[in-house]
Amino acid sequence: MKDIVCSGIRPTGNLHLGNYFGALSNFVKMQDVADCYFFIADYHSLTTHPTPDDLYRNARQILVQYLACGLDPERATIYLQSDLPETVELYLFLNMNAYLGELERCTSFKDKVRQQPQNVNAGLLTYPTLMAADILIHRATKVPVGKDQEQHLEMTRTFAERFNRMYHTDLFTLPQAYSMGGNLVKIPALNGSGKMGKSEGEQSTIFLTDSPEVVRKKVMKAKTDSGPTEPNQKKPEEIENLFTLLRAMGDNEGAEHFDELYNTCQIRYGDMKKHLAEDVVKFLEPIQQRIAELESDEKRLAAILDHGKEKARESAQKTIAEVRHVIGYRN
Ligand code: TRP
Repeated sequence: MKDIVCSGIRPTGNLHLGNYFGALSNFVKMQDVADCYFFIADYHSLTTHPTPDDLYRNARQILVQYLACGLDPERATIYLQSDLPETVELYLFLNMNAYLGELERCTSFKDKVRQQPQNVNAGLLTYPTLMAADILIHRATKVPVGKDQEQHLEMTRTFAERFNRMYHTDLFTLPQAYSMGGNLVKIPALNGSGKMGKSEGEQSTIFLTDSPEVVRKKVMKAKTDSGPTEPNQKKPEEIENLFTLLRAMGDNEGAEHFDELYNTCQIRYGDMKKHLAEDVVKFLEPIQQRIAELESDEKRLAAILDHGKEKARESAQKTIAEVRHVIGYRN
């Protein structure tokens, strides 16, 4: 049987190359082999109290960028979490059997308590039950998540199993993490340490929306060493990173060329970076073009969301009808 894949996307601002190769490119591939539900988690974002304008703008921005990267409304169900009232209903039911102790022990909750002691709201505490509702509403079998979400998925299984046991049913499937770790390309930050993303700073991160000038500036500033002094020397991390980026851009030829120059101590990092910058500019060009097209096509975006909502609700309504019946709402 075909897997049912479900994943939520938090609207966290502009996507970068790390997001692209870390998750997005896998989502795009999954569309061909599984029954996929991808949604913008615009209920989860309420835990930080965004303004109405920000809530809308962020959701729209992330939707546009995912579509521009290849999420396809014809092959996957793409929708807004806030378009599925069934999720909220399931969230309520799941909360009745989610215990304070286990919610408080959740690592992401404890982190938030530390980071924002002034805003420890019940939505944060029950973040895992809302996430469980997202997943269980479609009875997903696989959930593509990063390491930081594995505990939430574990809790989803706990809630599902508890519900099944309590009502003597096998209504809920226990979802498994779809580890994307294996064949993932980890995109390094330009500062020579860690992976590309917010924690390493904007200057070390290439966003999908960066203009050619910005890309060139960032790449030219990437960290390098003083160059090899002996043939076939082992490359330090920051140099290895530049090669990783060249290959990620699909430029194996360029990578081999500069590898040869490195091994013979003739490499000029400035040349390599110029080359890499142009690769990145070329890579981003079609994505940025699609972003621009989508951004100005309000009608098309609305149609995509309507279509997604319709497909998602079909699946969600089936589940919630069974859940209500099992619980004892019989009319
Ligand atoms: N919690 C996830 C994150 O922070 C987002 C998310 C919400 C999610 N609901 C989900 C992921 C359901 C997978 C499945 O990235």
